[in-house]
Amino acid sequence: MTETVLITGATAGIGAEFARQYAARGCDLVLVARASGPLEETARALRARWRVGVETISADLLDDDGLERVLARLRTGDRPEDRHAPGGTDGSTAAGEPAAGAAPVTVLVNNAGYGLVRPFADNELDDELRHLRIHVEVPLALSHAALQSMRPRRSGTIITVASVAGFTPRGTYGAAKAAMISFSRWANLTYGREGVRVTAVCPGFVHTEFHQRMGADKTGVPGFLWLDAGLVVREALHDTAAGKAVCIPSVRYKVITALARVAPSSLVARLARRGR
Ligand SMILES: NC(=O)c1ccc[n+]([C@@H]2O[C@H](COP(=O)([O-])OP(=O)(O)OC[C@H]3O[C@@H](n4cnc5c(N)ncnc54)[C@H](OP(=O)(O)O)[C@@H]3O)[C@@H](O)[C@H]2O)c1
Repeated sequence: MTETVLITGATAGIGAEFARQYAARGCDLVLVARASGPLEETARALRARWRVGVETISADLLDDDGLERVLARLRTGDRPEDRHAPGGTDGSTAAGEPAAGAAPVTVLVNNAGYGLVRPFADNELDDELRHLRIHVEVPLALSHAALQSMRPRRSGTIITVASVAGFTPRGTYGAAKAAMISFSRWANLTYGREGVRVTAVCPGFVHTEFHQRMGADKTGVPGFLWLDAGLVVREALHDTAAGKAVCIPSVRYKVITALARVAPSSLVARLARRGR
């Protein structure tokens, strides 16, 4: 069966790379992001290059209506009316209802996210709560919906893009990522027995739009700490297929995280200050 992969934040950085690598494997895609222009352009390029079905959902995941439309797509595909309805996978669902005849989502990639440049107490509480929501509440909500249809099929994959920041004292960003790493460890044990793999992918610094969008200065980060999104996603797909709950792309970050576990917190916090 052709896989159908739903990716949040699929128009830039790591999410766009997941879309490219899954398309190259012949998977159909459901791409989610807010800006409809880049979304349609990304979908057009992937259809033309890989001849796969690509749906788009233009949605702000921090908005109740936007989140609900993505949840609705995750619930679609197993009902009798979905199985027998005519149609393919090339529809846009930006206007509302999931496309008729849509196939069930077999892989969910929770990737959309952003950082806050200032530390916790300097931010408005509302900004912190929205940041917590995009990194924890949204992936949990989408994972919950995905599991409702994956568990009965005894098959499925849920990938959440966390961060090495989840292994270090790194403000609310690290705390949010740590929550998803912990959840993925437990969920992979629990739902792995039912055929659903759950993996937290934990990259270090990756060349994407992330730091520019948050207004962070990248100049203090040495070159050898930067990863290419292609490598991050290749290792993520490899480790997910192997059933690993946690993927730390690259040898250098495997070593860094191993050292971070035994080094004093004050030292790790100082070194990680710029890390995401
Ligand atoms: N880059 C790094 O160094 C790094 C390291 C470790 C972990 N990560 C994690 O990797 C993930 C992806 O980051 P990235 O570096 O690839 O970021 P990016 O290049 O800035 O891309 C972010 C993507 O998310 C979408 N997005 C943002 N807010 C959204 C919202 N409210 N609703 C729907 N879509 C939204 C953006 O599109 P729109 O703006 O059109 O919505 C875009 O497609 C994040 O979870 C991040 O925490 C990044």
